[in-house]
Amino acid sequence: MSAIDYNEKIPNNVNLSEDRALQRALEHWQPNYLQWWQEMGPDGSQNFDVYLRTAINTTPEGWAQFGHVKMPDYRWGIFLNAPEADRRVNFGEHKGEAAWQEVPGEHRANLRRIIVTQGDTEPASVEQQRHLGLTCPSQYDLRNLFQINVEEGRHLWAMVYLLHKYFGRDGREEAEALLYRNSGSQDNPRILQAFNEETPDWLAFYMFTYFTDRDGKFQLCALAESGFDPLSRTCRFMLTEEAHHMFVGESGVSRTIQRTCEVMKQHNIEDPEQLRQLGVIDLPILQRYLNFHFSVTIDLFGADQSSNAATFYATGLKGRFEETKRDDDHQLKGDHYKILEVQGDKLVEREVPMLNALNEVLRDDYIKDSIAGIGRWNKVIEKAGLSFRLQAPHKAFNRHIGSFAGLRVSPQGQVISEAEWQTNVRQWLPTEEDRVYVASLMGRVVEPGKMANWIAPPPIGINRQPINFDYVRFN
Ligand SMILES: [Fe+2]
Ligand SMILES: [Fe+2]
Repeated sequence: MSAIDYNEKIPNNVNLSEDRALQRALEHWQPNYLQWWQEMGPDGSQNFDVYLRTAINTTPEGWAQFGHVKMPDYRWGIFLNAPEADRRVNFGEHKGEAAWQEVPGEHRANLRRIIVTQGDTEPASVEQQRHLGLTCPSQYDLRNLFQINVEEGRHLWAMVYLLHKYFGRDGREEAEALLYRNSGSQDNPRILQAFNEETPDWLAFYMFTYFTDRDGKFQLCALAESGFDPLSRTCRFMLTEEAHHMFVGESGVSRTIQRTCEVMKQHNIEDPEQLRQLGVIDLPILQRYLNFHFSVTIDLFGADQSSNAATFYATGLKGRFEETKRDDDHQLKGDHYKILEVQGDKLVEREVPMLNALNEVLRDDYIKDSIAGIGRWNKVIEKAGLSFRLQAPHKAFNRHIGSFAGLRVSPQGQVISEAEWQTNVRQWLPTEEDRVYVASLMGRVVEPGKMANWIAPPPIGINRQPINFDYVRFN
């Protein structure tokens, strides 16, 4: 491995060749990464040539170079957005100071924790998705799955770069540990629960990339505001890639809905049982999957009141979504925010100090963004002349973190008894039969341009290629 020219092998804009210590650290880590990719990356895909987008720099032309590549040979690069001249810390107690180019000693432990937590989600999603290639609905979709997988790999590189470059020995140990935890593992699970859930089928994959990659977007946006400038610049570049992941989710669900509506119209039926006979995914199943992924994902924002969130903000480490576009003092000391709480059998609003409620602030911004896309899905149903509408469940529904944990709340936001929950939960969350039915549709379709019966073709191909382009060559 030592013969590899890493400056060649790892495209980067961080002057890797001039930093011997960093180069050595990455030389040590890279074979372990590749071994992880072989063992935990996309199942059975090592020899495929995949039409992938590779970033070779951060310019509009350079960040999206397309060509067929074997995934183990993908050039996972390290890119930071260009520095902003005279950038400042834009919020918290250090507001107005020059942005930090090195880790401030007193914030080191918190920063490391933030970076490790973000970094841990990246390989986790690759692990969660590793068997999906075996049941892809089309070559186009298979390619999109692999694109997301290699980019999540690159996001891991992005976080590992920060750990190696700025956190010395602790950072190197954390970088190793990122490869040893595994999604769903009993002994050594991933840090956040949503990243230990399975992504068993393609509907789950689209919901995951719509909802959970969008959590990624909001976390990255909050970290892009960080006073620690290398973290900010790293996250800004990651966000350019994240957009495609959410696109795959949104368009995947949209195409599924479109196909279902076509069959509903064509046969003039709405009954889920009859639709299942025709091999499409009925809208109530889509709603139950949506409820599951929405509720599991909003848990990722953490407890509604959190002293850690307050500390991360006050110390300038993690801002709010679009921090610098907001019109306030960016200190938030005397400010308040309304959170929901249970009182008896009612959810009531309560004002709490804004600094403690920053997880909730980010969660609420996320919810607004998520709901916009659900509206676009409903347009597809509306266009077909059908009355069904998908809805985001209430934010207290099916929660496991924060003040709603353990509470039974309906998707409409009524606090209910355990008995009522048990009576209705089969209408609200995917049942075993739903999962089995969706799994039964997941045959592998790889003939160029062909789609599985349950999903409509995309309106356009990748990088203006036709839909029947050979996105994956199986060799
Ligand atoms: Fe990512
Ligand atoms: Fe992503």
